[in-house]
Amino acid sequence: MSQRRVLVLNGVNLGRLGQRQPEVYGATTHAQLAEHLVSTGRGLGLDVDVRQTDHEGEFVGWLHEAAADELPVVLNPGAWSHYSYAIADAVVQVPFAVEVHISNVHRRETWRHTMVISPYVTGTILGLGLGGYDLALAHVASTLPA
Ligand code: DQA
Repeated sequence: MSQRRVLVLNGVNLGRLGQRQPEVYGATTHAQLAEHLVSTGRGLGLDVDVRQTDHEGEFVGWLHEAAADELPVVLNPGAWSHYSYAIADAVVQVPFAVEVHISNVHRRETWRHTMVISPYVTGTILGLGLGGYDLALAHVASTLPA
């Protein structure tokens, strides 16, 4: 079976997973998460490319790549989720996008309740920890044409 490519895009501060507020985001590092998702993807027939950046323009560039190549995307834009119209404008162009948040942002500070990207994604998973990424990949695998 040919593997279908999926981009998993993590935004600002997610490179600090494992060190950053482990009580909220867990003890797994970004490198460990990436390795896990590549392996999960392989089991689902997906070729998963996991990336992280703290630079909004770079994140937008990856979304342009997904739009141009018609690649499905799993994205966690971190704090950009709450205010980046630039990322919202880029996500609109992507054919299939699942937004993941590790924490349940609606149980946290009120500024996290504003979600400017969510209206433009296919669906959102939040508050289910790192397992949300696995669920998103399983959904992509089940939705993509064979
Ligand atoms: C987050 C939630 C955001 O509010 C926060 O800024 C993050 C991570 C999450 O995955 O729970 O960086 O997107």
